[in-house]
Amino acid sequence: MITIALAKGRVYKAFNEFLADKDLAGYADGLQEGGRDLFRVVGDVKFIFAKGKDVPTYVEQGVADLGVVGSDTITEKTYNVLNVSELPFGQCRLAIAGPTALDESDIKVVATSFPNLTRQYFNQNKQDVDIVFLNGSVELAPILGLSDAIVDIVQTGTTLKENDLREYKTILPVQARLIANKQSFYIKEEGIYQFMQEIGVV
Ligand code: PRP
Repeated sequence: MITIALAKGRVYKAFNEFLADKDLAGYADGLQEGGRDLFRVVGDVKFIFAKGKDVPTYVEQGVADLGVVGSDTITEKTYNVLNVSELPFGQCRLAIAGPTALDESDIKVVATSFPNLTRQYFNQNKQDVDIVFLNGSVELAPILGLSDAIVDIVQTGTTLKENDLREYKTILPVQARLIANKQSFYIKEEGIYQFMQEIGVV
């Protein structure tokens, strides 16, 4: 049996849509959303449902052999895991956004859950900004005057639109990725390869 840590929320939803599109009924039925299960066993695979930012930690520590997580998470921080492959779902982007009237060059304070990627972007652009870290609902920051702008995940753009915010620029395209524990990848090679074959990523 292999254990896979699956990021709850956006990635989990996209994975389910991918399984349904591919007619992978076994996994699709087993992983149907709903309930508050912490884990589920589907065939030879045990899925752990984890917060996206915790997925690389479970994999790094070896309590999960594989992880399915957004590329934003593993680009923001360095983890000692194998970056196995891109997965063909979960496409979105990390973007700078803010009030429609604000010019990008006037940004002085940015709220984000991605301080490293944000710092890197503004440093590269030689723009001196202060960064305010928030865990979520980042769109609130410019509305409440906590920041001029935000760097956040945008998928459909609905959240920005509904809050009268405008997307200025994509700073990183994002999609789901498969990561592996370095030891497990060799010790459990057969099971891992079988799973990857079943979902059509090798
Ligand atoms: C993300 C992001 C935006 C929203 C964007 O939040 O932070 O709020 O999704 O999606 P959209 O462009 O399709 O509207 P998420 O639901 O992941 O939760 P969070 O606010 O805790 O980050």
